[in-house]
Amino acid sequence: MERKIIVTSALIYANAPVHIGHLVESIQTDVWVRFQKANGNQCLYFCADDTHGTPVMISAKKAGISPEQLIDRVHSQHLSDLKEFHIGFDNYYTTHSPENKQLSELFYSRLNEKGSIVKREVEQSYCPKCDMFLPDRFIRGTCPKCKSENQYGDSCDSCGSIYQSTELINPACATCGAEPVRKTSIHYFFKLADYQNQLKEIVSAGYTGKSVANKLEEWFSAGLRDWDISRDGPYFGFKIPGEENKFFYVWLDAPIGYVASCKNYCDKNELDFENLWNSGDYELYHFIGKDIVYFHALFWPAMLLGADFRVADKLFVHGFLNVNGKKMSKSKGTFIKAATYLKYLDPEFLRYYYAAKLTDGIEDIELSVDDFVGRTNSELVGKFANLASRSIPMLTGKLDSTLGELDGDGKTLIENLTAAKKAIMENYESLKFSAAVRQINALADEANRYVEQNQPWAMVKTDLEKTRTVLTAIINAVRILTIYLKPILPKYAEKVEKILNVENLKFADAEKLLVNHKINKFERLFERIDKKQVEKMIEESKDNCQPAAEIKNEDSIEPIAEECTIDDFAKIDMRIAKVLKAESVEGADKLLRLQLDLGNCQKEVLAGIAKAYKPDELVGKIVVCLANLKPRKMKFGVSEGMILAAGPGGKDIFVLSADSGVKPGQRVG
Ligand code: MSP
Ligand code: ZN
Repeated sequence: MERKIIVTSALIYANAPVHIGHLVESIQTDVWVRFQKANGNQCLYFCADDTHGTPVMISAKKAGISPEQLIDRVHSQHLSDLKEFHIGFDNYYTTHSPENKQLSELFYSRLNEKGSIVKREVEQSYCPKCDMFLPDRFIRGTCPKCKSENQYGDSCDSCGSIYQSTELINPACATCGAEPVRKTSIHYFFKLADYQNQLKEIVSAGYTGKSVANKLEEWFSAGLRDWDISRDGPYFGFKIPGEENKFFYVWLDAPIGYVASCKNYCDKNELDFENLWNSGDYELYHFIGKDIVYFHALFWPAMLLGADFRVADKLFVHGFLNVNGKKMSKSKGTFIKAATYLKYLDPEFLRYYYAAKLTDGIEDIELSVDDFVGRTNSELVGKFANLASRSIPMLTGKLDSTLGELDGDGKTLIENLTAAKKAIMENYESLKFSAAVRQINALADEANRYVEQNQPWAMVKTDLEKTRTVLTAIINAVRILTIYLKPILPKYAEKVEKILNVENLKFADAEKLLVNHKINKFERLFERIDKKQVEKMIEESKDNCQPAAEIKNEDSIEPIAEECTIDDFAKIDMRIAKVLKAESVEGADKLLRLQLDLGNCQKEVLAGIAKAYKPDELVGKIVVCLANLKPRKMKFGVSEGMILAAGPGGKDIFVLSADSGVKPGQRVG
């Protein structure tokens, strides 16, 4: 009987672009969903962008746009990146939606009615200059344990210790640098512990795998604490009903975003939301990474229970991506954005590689660049595509593009391939993709051995009809292998379907034979990877991962600084100056030492423009000089003023250079 299934993957934060770490999850989920569909089940895949919270608010502010503008921009970028990787969402929505607002309020009011929400005063860090409470991640300071500087308010990247932001030495607001103060405020708490018994029941009924269940056991024995679900404004999120300046914490409305995405889909497609989410007609699964287990195994099911919503059947948890044995790193160039990957490589290569690595466990996934190149070339290109390119062009070229029938050997080969179906499907179903890929590879090896044994390229010179029989077996092997790979390689499968002149292959077609059938022209399926492409991709990824707001936003301009008054401005004395002498500064590759003529005096100025101008080019040029700047002692000497220049930096810095009609010493402004 056809199963009905709803699947979600974790909502990607709207403050950063999609990267190859996120893709582990999107690809794992998508392969599973495509497997279900190819197996004749109904499977709906819902996701969304996670849009609320302080980081989005601050990124937007830095980019000089509203949070709404930022999340709109990011939404289309996320979605287009994910679509390029063939992630087949049925709905990719946003948490900043009317459905989500309404549902969040509904959850809140039901939890309130149950007595699961309490108010309590809390003391928190507050930036007096930014006028806002600071989340731990927005406080920087020196680690109290190892004394490393510039660490986050909750944990130290250097020694790994976890602490309270109040323990930091020299704490500072990450936005403005001011020292945070302590301030109290009323917060709303969700009484998680009230749900402990129900949560335990869910877990013992198999909500998670074994290792996650063990972790949960630890958390249960440590005791469940109340969870702070409110934040004071300014905050980008949904206002708490009845409050003026308090908002739901982003993690409250984020998982409700799964439900809202489903609701939005139902409304658009005239389906009954209650039936889909709540009736139990549909199986329901969440795919997540191991870092967000606490939210999905404790808070989220408790919220659902409290609000009388249906809890998912299972949580599928995966590990984290490592590249070349280490965490993804911006300086090593292994923090690779989806968009950067797509410039250099075929998305199906990554889908295949991840599938070849993914298990049902929470171990980390290792991407080694050499292994990636090696496996792509030897398996995808050398084995699967090769089987097709060694057989199909011969049939279309010499044998009227028409398949014949199988002989005894051919039948044996095909029967062996078909017989593996059940085991492969079980591995897909239970998320043991790496085992499935291993089995499919073994079958391809068997098919390639059949090709070697029969040597159709030699046979075609002497016995055309026997060659047709052999090619019929090989091409049927290509077809069955394609069915098995289809959840992983949807585009490849589409191409093969077109070549073989068949429609929408499903697992059920593995038992069918394609005989006495006319096929279409061959087209190339995969191109080998040249390691240089990967190297270029890594080069381009070095340190270029800016916040999403700055990406694809060529016209973004640094926001205008804090206002100054006319009196502030009047203090500034800017003069026309002529460059008399310019020389490079030893040991400082960005600086030039300039001797300036200001009419009635001369000044020596150190200017950071060495990347843009050679000393000779500057002599005789006219510049604008901030003439009354207090002389500053720098490492390479005293600078008695400052010259004004425009441009983004590096080579692109421009000084004023006109010289007609302006005299050194003239005042500017
Ligand atoms: N917004 C939250 C999830 C809310 S769900 C109601 C979030 N977002 S995220 O963008 O940081 O991560 C989205 C998913 O990608 C998470 O499941 C996370 O575990 C996964 N991954 C993010 N980086 C990853 C790796 N480097 N490796 C593997 N998965 C990774 O968490
Ligand atoms: Zn501040």
